[in-house]
Amino acid sequence: MTAAETTQDGSGLRVHDLSWSARGTVIVDDVELTAPAGRITGLIGPNGSGKTTLLRAVARLARPDRGAVHLDGSDVARLRRRELARRLAVVEQHAGTDLDMTALDVVLLGRTPYRTALQADSGADRALALDALARVDMAGFAARKWSTLSGGERQRVQLARALTQQPGLLVLDEPTNHLDVSHALSLLTLVREAGLTSIAALHDLNLAAMFCDHVVVLRRGRAVAAGSPHDVLTPELLRDVYEVDADVGTHPRTGRPLLTFHPPAASQPPAPAPSSQEDS
Ligand SMILES: Nc1ncnc2c1ncn2[C@@H]1O[C@H](COP(=O)(O)OP(=O)(O)O)[C@@H](O)[C@H]1O
Ligand SMILES: [Mg+2]
Repeated sequence: MTAAETTQDGSGLRVHDLSWSARGTVIVDDVELTAPAGRITGLIGPNGSGKTTLLRAVARLARPDRGAVHLDGSDVARLRRRELARRLAVVEQHAGTDLDMTALDVVLLGRTPYRTALQADSGADRALALDALARVDMAGFAARKWSTLSGGERQRVQLARALTQQPGLLVLDEPTNHLDVSHALSLLTLVREAGLTSIAALHDLNLAAMFCDHVVVLRRGRAVAAGSPHDVLTPELLRDVYEVDADVGTHPRTGRPLLTFHPPAASQPPAPAPSSQEDS
């Protein structure tokens, strides 16, 4: 599916001319982007390029100066809070979570938009939450206090909460930054299998290449490229945007782009000395 196809029936996420500034400095500059329905869109770009700010504006956590966000044809700015929470779930980099809550309590927050204020959690809500904890490999942590969880465990609990919210759009800000390689791969596999429209800021470009169907590149607040990983992740773009020297090959199993980065020429480390021991 191409980004252009999404715009025809209004499904998926569409961001129009979005701008956000802080004290006169433009941080997100007139961004136009689409995220195809049911696919993962990767938002990439160097540190400080505006990824977090853009995602916060998409999720209505920051009010843009200008522009609009449409989700499956609805203007996000016009949705009531509760409706917004049913349609869109966010996994922020640093969730401001009550330290005394248990992991299960945190996941159950995902059911809040479906309950009235005084309604207790139903058995069905708990079943959904426990299932989501199991899906992020945190089944044994239901009763653990949030304050005792590691960064990676918190990230997985937050994803479980977001999935329990059963949203149309999943907004993820560096969802794998605290995760070891195995948990990073399984978290992104889980997001892919959830089949939701997802937009994720990702630092690891090889993970973006492997899991994203569509990639949008930010540089100094502007969207400078968008398309399939194959079309976008070229040595030219990586040099331009990240100022790195990279080779782009093909992943032997997935057929996706596989990036290899080279140290700057002036600081080439010496080759490791050959080992004196035979491989055993
Ligand atoms: N509230 C704010 N006030 C001033 N500058 C901000 C504010 N929020 C973000 N910025 C600046 O905007 C730029 C983009 O930040 P951010 O969106 O966090 O980038 P990224 O997520 O791509 O690393 C950074 O230079 C950051 O310092
Ligand atoms: Mg960020």
